[in-house]
Amino acid sequence: TEQPLVLGIESSCDETGIGIVRGTELLTNTVSSSMEEHVRFGGVIPEIASRAHLDAMVPALQAALDEAGVTLDEVDALAVTAGPGLSGALMVGVSAAKALAVATGKPLYGINHLVAHVGVGLLDDSGIEGFSADFLDQLPRGGLGALLVSGGHTEILAVRDITGDVQLLGSTLDDAAGEAYDKVARLLGLNYPGGPAIDKAAASGDSKAFVFPRGLSARKFMGTAEQPGKHRYDFSFSGLKTAVARVVEGFEARGEEVPVADIAASFQEAVVDVITKKAMLACQEQGIKTLLLGGGVAANSRLRTLTAQRCEEHGIKLVIPKLSLCTDNGAMVAALGARLVTEGRAPSGIDFEADSSLPV
Ligand code: KG4
Ligand code: ZN
Repeated sequence: TEQPLVLGIESSCDETGIGIVRGTELLTNTVSSSMEEHVRFGGVIPEIASRAHLDAMVPALQAALDEAGVTLDEVDALAVTAGPGLSGALMVGVSAAKALAVATGKPLYGINHLVAHVGVGLLDDSGIEGFSADFLDQLPRGGLGALLVSGGHTEILAVRDITGDVQLLGSTLDDAAGEAYDKVARLLGLNYPGGPAIDKAAASGDSKAFVFPRGLSARKFMGTAEQPGKHRYDFSFSGLKTAVARVVEGFEARGEEVPVADIAASFQEAVVDVITKKAMLACQEQGIKTLLLGGGVAANSRLRTLTAQRCEEHGIKLVIPKLSLCTDNGAMVAALGARLVTEGRAPSGIDFEADSSLPV
């Protein structure tokens, strides 16, 4: 049977992504980012991101169609990130997708960004061995766990059915992990994006030099396995950021040189330790045997090492899509859209709205 040709649009943060797939085959994945424009602010400025999406959207669509060698006419369905994400940024992608749907009469699917980060594993070339549509069809009872860590979000998901049963187990109550990296990098005088800069600085630092807080790790938040606390699987990184600021201020007040590498390494250890511990706990308690790591922070060397180590200790299989599919992109939106088409699901129509806090 003919596989559906689906065009996916992603614009939830600072990446304008267009992906085109034929079923589970990726034809093109074009991403243009407004990251450069946010550098001098040390973080993504929503208004700037929205305007950049407007500038990039039509050329990106044209480029993706050219690259895939297909016409809009040949496309079977359209898919677009409906949320969660930055409101104005989402609206650009959703409006573009609706306009295309009206102009062409093609069915349009509104896609959840978080689920799409997992759905990218459906692609033949996701970079994950033995992980495919078949794998997702035969998930064990606990389902697939997903640990999504980026500049915009930090979540643990349980995926029992990629198009029907996804549960949010935990998320950050304040900053995303990548955001914490970016803010701490700024405190340390390192460049934006802070993730790669801290990762690099940490390599020559002592991760035990400072003990920084692991947010929401106290008993009152965690509870016990029998009586789980409200925030057992949740994260908080704002206290950590403040703790780093205090330490930096201390050195400056004493007129001493700030030990950037040691602080970077100790900060990174605090982030990665709490993220991986909570992910392991969630997997264990929810009967999850396979964990997918996604989001831009999946590039972090310490996160990769410690997640692999702890997964092995807990008998959990770790899968990580190739990095170009971990960061925000249109291919993941198209991949999940294609799956919905294949399952014969009804399209969303054009009446749905971009929703900055769209639930899974
Ligand atoms: O998924 P992504 O490309 O975009 C969104 O967040 O939407 O992730 C970007 C984030 C930034 O916060 C960046 O600092 C972080 O990922 N990042 C890293 C590394 N590379 C990128 N964080 C830690 N270590 C890295 N090596
Ligand atoms: Zn994302």
